[in-house]
Amino acid sequence: MSAAPRRVKVALGDRAYDILIGSDLIARAGEHCAPHIPKRRAIVVTDDAVARLHLDALTRALKAAGIDAPAVVVPAGEASKDFAEFGRLMERLLDQRPDRDTVLIALGGGVVGDLCGFAASVLLRGVDFIQIPTTLLAQVDSSVGGKTAINTRHGKNLVGTFYQPRLVLADTGVLDTLPRRELLAGYAEIAKYGLIDDEPFFAWLEANGQAVVGGDARARGEAIARSCLSKARIVAEDEREQAGVRDLLNLGHTFGHALEKEVGFGGELLHGEAVAIGMVLAFDMSAALGLCLASDARRVRAHLEAVGLPVSPLTIPGVNARGWDVARLVDHMRADKKNRDGKLTFILARGIGQSFVRRGVEGEAALDTMRRALAA
Ligand SMILES: NC(=O)c1ccc[n+]([C@@H]2O[C@H](COP(=O)([O-])OP(=O)(O)OC[C@H]3O[C@@H](n4cnc5c(N)ncnc54)[C@H](O)[C@@H]3O)[C@@H](O)[C@H]2O)c1
Ligand SMILES: [Zn+2]
Repeated sequence: MSAAPRRVKVALGDRAYDILIGSDLIARAGEHCAPHIPKRRAIVVTDDAVARLHLDALTRALKAAGIDAPAVVVPAGEASKDFAEFGRLMERLLDQRPDRDTVLIALGGGVVGDLCGFAASVLLRGVDFIQIPTTLLAQVDSSVGGKTAINTRHGKNLVGTFYQPRLVLADTGVLDTLPRRELLAGYAEIAKYGLIDDEPFFAWLEANGQAVVGGDARARGEAIARSCLSKARIVAEDEREQAGVRDLLNLGHTFGHALEKEVGFGGELLHGEAVAIGMVLAFDMSAALGLCLASDARRVRAHLEAVGLPVSPLTIPGVNARGWDVARLVDHMRADKKNRDGKLTFILARGIGQSFVRRGVEGEAALDTMRRALAA
């Protein structure tokens, strides 16, 4: 008999839903999903890598509960969030002759979650969907909060909807097949929640982070549940990103996005890796501005480094960051959609767990931080 899953509630009125976290949730997906699929018709959307590893188990579990669930498989990777791939997906979903009671099930990482969520929000003007996130990043970040999106040639995630799932099943067992780099990239977002507003959680991670990345099921469950609670709380306060509260989730992301843009999206630098470096830079900048102690910035760096994340642009494998044009990096930051009037918005910190949104930051402060990082 397996332990009962942990349950995190996302409080969004009539769109409220549960996130269940446990080690064998795919095997028990029938029992958990059935109440949300009254007509017993679902379509699973997944990618080819995840399909090879986990689709059979899901299909079997759904079938045992009387749920008929054919699958539509897209290629693994960010390119599946392209407009063209989205169009193909819609046609293939319609090939299955869905009706308004058909439920979409996203089985995969953030790519599948964003793509399937967007599809659910527009298929037949909106059908229900369930998230079964299979990367650590998706379990602690992208499956929570209801943002769906695809990419265009103008940039990532510029076309999408706010559309909440009916249920999220975070099966910690599937993380055993996840490549270590992908796992660590997800861990960066976990550490982020401690750094935003939960110092005790960051201290817990300092003590237990190795167990989380090492595969200890209890530690993993705890870290994922606390992360989902954090994100759920922030999202419940500011579902549509209008009150500025949700901006806190971008800690490390202004620097991180600039690094991703500079390196390119060819796999040298994963999003979570960029965020890890970005959080170190955000704390360095906070310390340089006299907002937090230098020892806080050292503590952030030491923990991320200890679990195996990159903490400096100089250590990105295959990238010669010393040759970078610092002004161009700051230009990447200026292009961020959160900025106004040419000034920058950063999430800075007065200490660990004391992050805040600072608008109107002069480019010079960011230039200095980047210069120091590249001269180290
Ligand atoms: N909606 C949001 O709020 C939100 C938040 C953060 C990120 N995102 C989006 O999420 C995406 C990134 O998500 P991601 O990091 O999960 O990437 P991903 O979905 O591309 O997954 C990474 C890789 O891991 C593979 N994989 C997934 N689960 C696996 C498993 N259990 N075992 C083995 N391999 C597995 C996938 O096939 C893929 O190759 C981006 O498109 C980003 O824009 C969205
Ligand atoms: Zn992120």
